[in-house]
Amino acid sequence: MYTLKPPAKWPLLAKTISGLEPVLAKELESLGAADVKVLKRAVSFTGDQILLFKANYCCRTALRILKPLFEFPINEQQDLYNNIHNYPWEDLLTPDSSLSIDAVISYTVFTNSQFVAQKSKDAIVDRFRSKFDKRPSVDLENPDMRINVHLFKNLCTVSLDSSGQSLHKRGYRRSTGPAPINEVLAAGLVQLSGWDYTTPMFDPMCGSGTLLIEAAMLAKSIPCGYFRKEFGFMRWKDFDRDLWLQVKAGADDRISPLRLQLFGSDRAERAIVSAKENLAFTGLSDDVHLQTCSFEDSEPPVENGFILCNPPYDERIRIDDTIAFNKLIGDTLKRKFKGYTAWFISSDLESIKFIGLKPSRKIVVFNGPLECRFVKFELY
Ligand SMILES: C[S@@+](CC[C@H](N)C(=O)[O-])C[C@H]1O[C@@H](n2cnc3c(N)ncnc32)[C@H](O)[C@@H]1O
Repeated sequence: MYTLKPPAKWPLLAKTISGLEPVLAKELESLGAADVKVLKRAVSFTGDQILLFKANYCCRTALRILKPLFEFPINEQQDLYNNIHNYPWEDLLTPDSSLSIDAVISYTVFTNSQFVAQKSKDAIVDRFRSKFDKRPSVDLENPDMRINVHLFKNLCTVSLDSSGQSLHKRGYRRSTGPAPINEVLAAGLVQLSGWDYTTPMFDPMCGSGTLLIEAAMLAKSIPCGYFRKEFGFMRWKDFDRDLWLQVKAGADDRISPLRLQLFGSDRAERAIVSAKENLAFTGLSDDVHLQTCSFEDSEPPVENGFILCNPPYDERIRIDDTIAFNKLIGDTLKRKFKGYTAWFISSDLESIKFIGLKPSRKIVVFNGPLECRFVKFELY
């Protein structure tokens, strides 16, 4: 049997990228979340409807906010179908709704998450078919309701995904390069770096400008969902639009007109064109100065600045000689950027040593499947 959760204060779960859990926990606490607990690639917390809206709109390091609906033990495969079939889905969906199911499994009687998603979907649509002679359709791209089925050992938790599309899709990316950094990771790196929101920041390999845009949005308190048109909860039957608009207005009121000094450059002209397009869309063009230039030829835009950089390091951008490339980064930092604090992210754990500077901090984060080091150099 499933256990229904109390309505006023729900247990909630925010999913994130491995390595960003403590940052997300802080963000949630600052929004008023209670019972905040760091898990693997997730943070659990409790909160009400208002917090669910705020978490989606303001948590820069959350990928999704899940609202657990019910849970049950699984001893044999049939338990999945039976328990999901027994839930009163007609309270949440109509036969005309569309749905999609994400399944995540570990250490359980099932070995294939696709199969779990399929079985869960069958259980829901069979219930509708027998009650209404009509069934909700499946829409993997843009469903009315996204349902998350999580199986860990012999416990199955079924949740509603209140975010819909992943929250890294901020809605500001008009143009992109070959290897843009995930927006959630970029926001996490800015926060992990301890940037004080006032020291001028320079990204010398800025690509389409994601790090600079996330930094500017943080410094100006622009909510990360500000440019996004839709969240999953907006299509829920009980969606309270007035309450949502109040929450949104409250967060938007805190946007500050602070003038920033952010600098970006890239050796590829097309990257700078992309970055300009994205900045123009976000209204941040006046805060970020861009130029086409290779790092080795660039001059420090200010004294004692702050570098945050995502150089090429994976298969998406080929570098012929990664050792020489990292040596060049190190030489450039030593020759020209005295007085700077510099943070670089790389998954090339061997070549990054050839920067030839001793990192004062190293943080492990993941960029998709790639284990990366986020390293800090103090250039005295
Ligand atoms: C991984 S991408 C950066 C992606 C960026 N963070 C974004 O979100 O779009 C690396 C960038 O470094 C640039 N690049 C490579 N070598 C460079 C160099 N020597 N100087 C400046 N830019 C360089 C590439 O053109 C590419 O745009």
